Amino acid sequence: MLVQLLLLSSVLLSCIGNGNAGLTSAFVRNEWPSNDIPLDNEAFAVPKGYNAPQQVHITQGDYDGKAVIISWVTPNEPGSNKVRYGLTEGKYDFTAEGTVQNYTFYNYKSGYIHQCLVNGLQYDKKYYYEIGNGDSSRKFWFQTPPEINPDASYKFAIIGDLGQTYNSLSTLEHCMQTGANTILFVGDLSYADRYDNHDVGVRWDSWGRFVERSAAYQPWIWSAGNHEIEYFPHLGEVIPFRNYLHRYPTPYPASKSSSPMWYAMRRASAHIIVLSSYSPYVKYTPQWRWLNQELKRVDREKTPWLIVLMHTPIYNSNDAHFMEGESMRVVFERWFCHYKVDLVFAGHVHAYERSYRISNIRYNISSGTSYPVPDKSAPVYITVGDGGNQEGLAQRFRDPQPDYSAFREASYGHSTLEIKNRTHALYHWNRNDEGKRVPTDSFVLHNQYWWVHSKLLRNYLGNSHRRRKLKKNYLHSVISKISRSHIF
Ligand SMILES: [Fe+2]
Repeated sequence: MLVQLLLLSSVLLSCIGNGNAGLTSAFVRNEWPSNDIPLDNEAFAVPKGYNAPQQVHITQGDYDGKAVIISWVTPNEPGSNKVRYGLTEGKYDFTAEGTVQNYTFYNYKSGYIHQCLVNGLQYDKKYYYEIGNGDSSRKFWFQTPPEINPDASYKFAIIGDLGQTYNSLSTLEHCMQTGANTILFVGDLSYADRYDNHDVGVRWDSWGRFVERSAAYQPWIWSAGNHEIEYFPHLGEVIPFRNYLHRYPTPYPASKSSSPMWYAMRRASAHIIVLSSYSPYVKYTPQWRWLNQELKRVDREKTPWLIVLMHTPIYNSNDAHFMEGESMRVVFERWFCHYKVDLVFAGHVHAYERSYRISNIRYNISSGTSYPVPDKSAPVYITVGDGGNQEGLAQRFRDPQPDYSAFREASYGHSTLEIKNRTHALYHWNRNDEGKRVPTDSFVLHNQYWWVHSKLLRNYLGNSHRRRKLKKNYLHSVISKISRSHIF
């Protein structure tokens, strides 16, 4: 472990320690065809049995990780809304009852969409669950997170802009190989909006079956992208996000949000904030007001890791979607720095990019420099919109590489964030190298809140002898006192 940390530290120093010398990867990917997998492929296999549940997926169902929302579709008739579950495989001591609904989208009629909240769960347990009836019933499992704890270790994977091509399948399989406990999804799910008429709904269904191999077992934390908007006036479909909202519920009331499009949750040692790039967010809008309050609820003593998900990147140096995140940057960047957000993950651009810790908050329209500058309080911005959808890669980066950009590569892939404790996490971006998973951009991440505090603590205590004499809990109380006495 020590060797791994040292190795990764050296990568960190070589990649982000030297200010303004970013790296544009020379790796050129031989492009696989970016075509959607045909509907009759086994990747979209319909489960056997009359009215068998399909498109099964789970997400966190509350604020603190003691609940899941389980969703599934029955194609022929409503069937049962019940989830049978328990702590032993094949022995389901508990039952929860959900709801069922369906909807139309132009001339497409959806299957029966079930959503069931399973709450009151124990932390850090493997639960087995069964849905459907008789010969058509299906069995799955999920693992609840550890109790909210600042030193809880936990592994997230981050995927964006996935779609349903062979590259998407490769990304999904690679992601599952990492053993990540939860998937943070940064928008643009199915790319069904690339189709028309009836096929839009059909491709939402095929995508649901496609991701079930992961999403029925590991919770996916959803955020919406532009491909979820589906504004189709020629079909008479003009209400944004209709397919998405019918199919992918989020636990928004638990974080006092008024919309499923933006919400927050705590999981293990992380506080995760999901924003909507395509809902109003300027001053006084519901999303702005909500985020203003939610950031005040973040307690780094309980959840040291503060992570923000959005679709449109704020810092991007690709020609694709350049400057599209600028309006959200103007509104929210100041808060991200003030609250010392650790990481902002985005998608949208079909390539990988990581920023240095920089901000452009000194600039206002009447004074200051209008250029991002190094800022220790700023998050690292990571664009991981490289899931592998049918639109292919965004191959043209701006030249020269801007000072704010630390590493960029136009390949498919996904990221993992392995939280070790309150001060350290291991980050990887994994290139999808024509079917092989190749860890490419890796570093040790220091927590924005506790790393600073632990350095202050070392100075405060002076020498290791005094440190050894202090008990762990007392150390924490000393850190708290120091943190309250330092404005930084
Ligand atoms: Fe997008």
